[in-house]
This record gives sequence, structure tokens and C-alpha cells, in this order.
Amino acid sequence: MSISVKPRFITFEGIDGCGKSTQAKLLIQKLEDEGKEVVFVREPGGTDISEQVRNILLHSGGDEMTGRTEALLMTASRAQLTKEVIIPSLDNGKWVVADRYADSTLAYQGGGRTIDLEWLIELNQFATFALQPDLTFFVDVLPEIGFERQGGSPDRIERAGLDFQANVRQMYLKLTKRFSDRIVLVDGNHTIDSIQDVIISTLIKRNFI
Ligand code: ADP
Ligand code: TYD
Repeated sequence: MSISVKPRFITFEGIDGCGKSTQAKLLIQKLEDEGKEVVFVREPGGTDISEQVRNILLHSGGDEMTGRTEALLMTASRAQLTKEVIIPSLDNGKWVVADRYADSTLAYQGGGRTIDLEWLIELNQFATFALQPDLTFFVDVLPEIGFERQGGSPDRIERAGLDFQANVRQMYLKLTKRFSDRIVLVDGNHTIDSIQDVIISTLIKRNFI
């Protein structure tokens, strides 16, 4: 068995309610059980500045925010989080597990708000200081399933509806094909435990753990 010492940056993606936060937390538990130091982040947010941006993004007003404003605020939050938390953590030998990262902007603002994908890829390059996740799990469910699994009152983006989520999902599927070395599709319809097994065996197969 090979032992990897390199800290990894793993991201979880998918439509709202797909089950990615559940899987991110289970993965962190597993990594910590193996003695790794792990930092958890979730987007938008994760630093003082990014949390303030999150508040504007998810809880301000009605429909007046333009898709471009949304894209710029999402990536502004990301730039701060990347520089303040993610890069220093990796430099200090810690693993980073993220509940959403740059692909969310491609899927939501690209697929959902129909902003040009190539331009968003450039914007992400700028916001992430060109940092790429080592591996991304796309937890795939239909919008109806994601909607059923969501609790509480919906935020501004969740209120955009099932058609919006369907467009976001289509973009995730497209990204999975385009970035096939990095993004792994996981069927989110299975039980929580069997999805976790798939995730762990993917990490083992890639010699990450
Ligand atoms: P997300 O972070 O994608 O919005 P969560 O991980 O918070 O989703 O899960 C949303 C809800 O669905 C939670 O109540 C969670 O317990 C439940 N859930 C997560 N994964 C599954 C699954 N595979 N099957 C059934 N319910 C699930
Ligand atoms: P959150 O409550 O964190 O939802 P979830 O548990 O589904 O991750 O809200 C984040 C919302 O912001 C979610 O609807 C996805 C959206 N989002 C974007 O539209 N673009 C982005 O770049 C990011 C990071 C999130």
C-alpha cells in the first residue's frame, strides 16, 4: 500500500440538496481518523470578508441582482478564502475539503445564469490564483430529489426553481466530461454509506490515502 504525504485539496459539488455536505463531513472524519490535519471550508464564505459577501449573495433583496454581479461576488469571496485559508493550509501540510469551489460558479452562473463559460473560467483563474482542486466529487441527483432533501427556508438562489437547478445540473455534467481527469461523478441516489464507500475507494485508487 502506498502512503501519500502530500496534502490534497478535495472539493464537493452538485445542485442544492444533493448530499455533498454530508459526504464532505464523512470524508473529513475518515481523514482525521487516519491522523491527517484537515481544514473544512464552504463557499460562499469562510473568512470575515467572504461571510459578509455571502450575506449579500444569499439574503439580500429579491430578483434585482444581475448574473454578472453574482459571478463577481462569488469569485470575490473565493479570492479571499483562497488567499487567506486554502493556500496557507496546503502550504502547512493540511488537507483542505471544500463544500463548493470554482465549479459552482461555472455551473450556477454559467449554466444557471447563462454567463459565458470561457469567461467564467478566466475569472476563476484570477480568483483562485490558478489553484485547482486535486479531485472534485460531483454528487449527482435530479433537481426534484435535491429539492425534497432540502430543509429550512430557501435562500435567494434556491428560490430560483427546478428549471434553474436542471440547467445547473446540465452544466455540471458537461464539466465532468470536459475535466474528466479531475471531476468524478458520484451517483447521489444511493445510500449515504454506499456513496461514502465510492468516495473512499476513489481516493485509494488514486493513491491519495
Ligand atoms: P447539500 O450540502 O448538497 O445541500 P446535505 O448534505 O446537507 O446536502 O443533505 C441534504 C439532506 O439530505 C440532509 O438532510 C441529509 O441528511 C440528506 N441526505 C444526504 N445524502 C443523502 C442520501 N444519499 N440519501 C438520502 N438522504 C440524504
Ligand atoms: P448554501 O446554503 O451554502 O447551499 P448548499 O448547501 O447547497 O451549498 O448556498 C450556496 C448557494 O450559492 C447555492 O445555491 C449555490 C450558490 N453558489 C453559486 O451560485 N455560485 C458559486 O460560485 C457558489 C460557490 C455557490
